[in-house]
Amino acid sequence: MKQAETIRQVREQISRWKGDGLSIGLVPTMGYLHEGHESLIAASVQQNDRTVVSVFVNPMQFGPSEDLQAYPRDLQRDAALCEAAGAALLFHPQPEEMYAPDFCSFVDMTGLTEGLCGKSRPTHFRGVCTVVMKLFQIVQPDRAYFGQKDAQQLAVIRRMVRDLDVPVEIVGCPIVREADGLAKSSRNSYLSVPERRAAPVLYRALCRGRELLEQGERDADRVARAVRDVLAQEPLARIDYVSVVDAGSLQPVSAVERDVLVALAVYIGNTRLIDNITCQIS
Ligand code: PAJ
Repeated sequence: MKQAETIRQVREQISRWKGDGLSIGLVPTMGYLHEGHESLIAASVQQNDRTVVSVFVNPMQFGPSEDLQAYPRDLQRDAALCEAAGAALLFHPQPEEMYAPDFCSFVDMTGLTEGLCGKSRPTHFRGVCTVVMKLFQIVQPDRAYFGQKDAQQLAVIRRMVRDLDVPVEIVGCPIVREADGLAKSSRNSYLSVPERRAAPVLYRALCRGRELLEQGERDADRVARAVRDVLAQEPLARIDYVSVVDAGSLQPVSAVERDVLVALAVYIGNTRLIDNITCQIS
């Protein structure tokens, strides 16, 4: 596996591969890789001749009081995982390589970025869209892989690619969970032992919501309330949001008529965790 820290190195490698007619998959990450990331890399390796993984803790998507400095990093371990998973190139730029001192161009999106996580993280998706668009320009992949774990991010990236005619196929991948249901996340490493024990309440609460929908409940408020009730039983949990939204548009629904996404963000101690579940309505 090759490694690159500069955009130029990446471009040179990509143009050699493209010259040979090889297809390219991109897996954008912020590192501290786990089985969730691994599943994205595996999907890309299966579907493309060459897979590029980027590891970049993108300052632009963190709010002023968020965890940019504390965000876990372990490049050596990430490189070993990427190599074992079959990646051909690991791109790990420094912030200065991605953002010139006078950087002032952004990809912004209205609507879709304003609900759910956008409410408490108003500048987050502008940072995500901007960095992902830059990565698309640098790597020019045929396909790019994103997890359903960040359902709003996946929807936002799909919309950006459609709206701005970016020639890349976006591939969504299912959520990978721990045995007790907790969705894998780099941020799980922040949890203390009692917090880690409490954290599966997110998935339990989502399963309760799904159960109600499967039993025929069609009042979205009632579903959301049942999810909140489960979370309320865990003293270490503090709700940011619980929402029942249309699975396609991510708009809130009151009467459930089509497939919905039950999505939540919950603080366990000081750590903000997100999770979601898609429920098919037949
Ligand atoms: P990061 O949180 O490192 O996640 C990178 C990719 O891995 C995302 O597409 C995310 O949805 C996916 N992922 C994370 N945990 C997962 C899990 N348990 N199961 C399946 N997929 C999972 O998301 C970002 O980084 C950044 O916002 C990024 C897109 C790289 C832009 O900076």
